Amino acid sequence: MAQGTTTFITNPLFSLSPRTPSKITSFNHFITTRFFSPLSPPSLSSLQLRPSSSMFIVHANSNPIDSISIENEKEISHSSANLLACPVCYQPLTWITDPRFSIDAIPGSTLQCSTCQKTYAGNQTHIDLITTGETKNNDEPMPLSTELFRLPLVSYLYERGWRQTFTILGGFPGAEKEFEIMKGFLKPVLGGNILDASCGSGLFSKLFAKSGLFSLVVALDYSENMLKQCYEFIQQEENFPKENFTLVRADISKLPFVSNSIDAVHAGAAIHCWPSPSAAIAEITRVLRPGGVFVATTFVLDGPLSYVPFLNQITKNTGGFSFLSERELEDFCRASGLVQFKCIRNRRFVMISATKPI
Ligand SMILES: C[S@@+](CC[C@H](N)C(=O)[O-])C[C@H]1O[C@@H](n2cnc3c(N)ncnc32)[C@H](O)[C@@H]1O
Repeated sequence: MAQGTTTFITNPLFSLSPRTPSKITSFNHFITTRFFSPLSPPSLSSLQLRPSSSMFIVHANSNPIDSISIENEKEISHSSANLLACPVCYQPLTWITDPRFSIDAIPGSTLQCSTCQKTYAGNQTHIDLITTGETKNNDEPMPLSTELFRLPLVSYLYERGWRQTFTILGGFPGAEKEFEIMKGFLKPVLGGNILDASCGSGLFSKLFAKSGLFSLVVALDYSENMLKQCYEFIQQEENFPKENFTLVRADISKLPFVSNSIDAVHAGAAIHCWPSPSAAIAEITRVLRPGGVFVATTFVLDGPLSYVPFLNQITKNTGGFSFLSERELEDFCRASGLVQFKCIRNRRFVMISATKPI
């Protein structure tokens, strides 16, 4: 199949169209009849993961139809120790302390850029990889769409009601269902590492970790208070898999990862909050390895709303929120070099996926 074309997927897991019909009245009906075969979601939970030298391999179970097999070990990345990069020059960071991705190892973790000589350290809840100067509190001024989520109250309320309003306001299916849908898009990269970009309080980072479907989960956000919430939620959970999970503070347009090092990037309900969605998608494309998958959800602005004069300009200029159309999302992905754009719609909710060409 030619790369760069928007395609229909017809695999046993999913069946979806690149431009889904806009007249969908019932999301449940739509999802169950159109996207899921009765075989699909349960089969994912029956996967077993086995570590190899630097990666995990997903083993197929006995049923060849409802199982997932990742055959090509070379396509699944890299030693995770060399993943983190300087957000200024993108050279790999050198661990001064034991190179270990674990929630318990965050406090005291220290890394240094051998080019810039800048040192980055972990605090109680996350590794801080924001580029700042020498003085404290000199973070770059960010738009409201970024700063809003740094407020302790907003971070506290986010998973305690705020996120749930997205279902009423926009038609978001809810975390569990969104996770089930996105697993179909992530199928080619299961067993690899995943960056949950703009993770908030870790709604999906936690699901990724607990699913056991990824070799490493990096939960990244700009908001230190969202990361603190995520850390606290994890501490409250019994038997949370704390190894191969880390929390990182960074800006979406300066991702602290080596180029071509990430198998999957997820960004839930975040594109509309980013100061520059096009710059962010370009940056995501840089860190994805060839064959890596980007999957994201957001609110779209199209249909009659897109005819309201200057609506997007107003939201952008008053708060930094960018509500894009499906077409613009596709354009940004293509402009960054991503291919195989797909999307699923329900009212204002959209889930998009695109792949970095091999
Ligand atoms: C609506 S929340 C989404 C949280 C979660 N991913 C979800 O699916 O519910 C948007 C998140 O984007 C983050 N964000 C906004 N601007 C950002 C930036 N410049 N860099 C990284 N994250 C950013 C916010 O801190 C916030 O946690």
